[in-house]
Amino acid sequence: MIFASWLFTTRDTFFRKGTMRCALRRSPSNVMTAHENKTALPLVHLGITRPEELSALFADLRGSFDADCASAHDESSWKQFRDAWLGRKSGVLTQITDNWLKPATLELKRAVGASLNELRAHVESQIEARRAAIESGSEKTALASERIDLSLPGVIRPIGSQHLIRQVFQEIEDIFFSIGFSVVEGPEIETPYYNFEALNIPEFHPVRDDMDTFYLDLPKGAKTPLLLRTHTSPMQIRTMEKQKPPVRVIVPGKVYRRDNPDATHSFAFHQIEGLAVDTDITFCDFTGTIEYFVKQFFGPSVKTRFRPSYFPFTEPSVEFDVSCPFCGGTGTASGGGTCSKCKGAAWIELFGAGMVDPAVYGFVNYDAKKVSGFAFGIGIDRLAMLKYGIDDIQVFFQNDVRFLRQFP
Ligand code: PHE
Repeated sequence: MIFASWLFTTRDTFFRKGTMRCALRRSPSNVMTAHENKTALPLVHLGITRPEELSALFADLRGSFDADCASAHDESSWKQFRDAWLGRKSGVLTQITDNWLKPATLELKRAVGASLNELRAHVESQIEARRAAIESGSEKTALASERIDLSLPGVIRPIGSQHLIRQVFQEIEDIFFSIGFSVVEGPEIETPYYNFEALNIPEFHPVRDDMDTFYLDLPKGAKTPLLLRTHTSPMQIRTMEKQKPPVRVIVPGKVYRRDNPDATHSFAFHQIEGLAVDTDITFCDFTGTIEYFVKQFFGPSVKTRFRPSYFPFTEPSVEFDVSCPFCGGTGTASGGGTCSKCKGAAWIELFGAGMVDPAVYGFVNYDAKKVSGFAFGIGIDRLAMLKYGIDDIQVFFQNDVRFLRQFP
């Protein structure tokens, strides 16, 4: 229906436009002036009294009809031409009926009637044929202009590849899927409550200095300040608020800190948060899980170790290290000399983690006496740099195809 009415409108405008154009050209009614005069008068006034005289008169008319017909080139001029000949009120055929046939003498009437019928048949069939010709002609032009050439080669849009960071996300997600974790995602714009307070970081806690960060410029009177999350840890809180234990989730995402860009710092980077909470999770489950992950990611020959650390939302807190995958944990490069990756330390610092601080359970209505769990926050950019030997974090954000193409 919609299509049909659209067609209608275009046709309508086409007619209107056509009429305007036509007014400037030779109008078909002007063409007919010669026979108009004749058809306006009774036959006696034309000096015709005998049937034999009719044939020349009608032949003349037919000639001027044929000429008119040939000059109707578009729908608009065709319409005027049709009305001039077939119009009920003052079309040529009506005039002949009124002025020639009706007042004709008995002697002439039959012959005028016969010639008129003959002319009418000719006029009607020619007008219809002309209409069909114009229509198919205009359709042909439309078809020609809208024709799709299927033999033309298409536009080839080269398929890119996943960004290395996305590939590493995927790799890590697969490892945790295999041991029963699921993926959740959360907002990059957070409230201070989720980013700090509920993670046991009250307003004047010194660790906020490390995370001194991006606050949004909100309109005056906004209820709560908003900031770009500095870590994926707020999702620990959002997940536990929604879900009773057991909880086993990982949270991939972007995080933001006010770091000046250099080879190892960027104001936007990527983390995967991990959280497992249940009634009987021990420190052994924690280190076992991390070791499983690290071996899956770097290969079975690497070793892990942890050192004491500090995060307000884990207790105890640790920092996980991996034995340097480049020098096999020896600190010495294959050609002798110090390994450039671990700088001879044999270990590489990986990420922070710990057992969930019982204080955090208080913010999510978990019973700290009944549940225990662990959490970790893996910096993806750092891990990708280590695994793929990339020495500048900035390349992840520069979208240089020469870099991206190396990781199809
Ligand atoms: N959120 C911490 C950071 O960004 C990492 C972390 C996560 C530490 C979970 C312990 C537990 O530094």
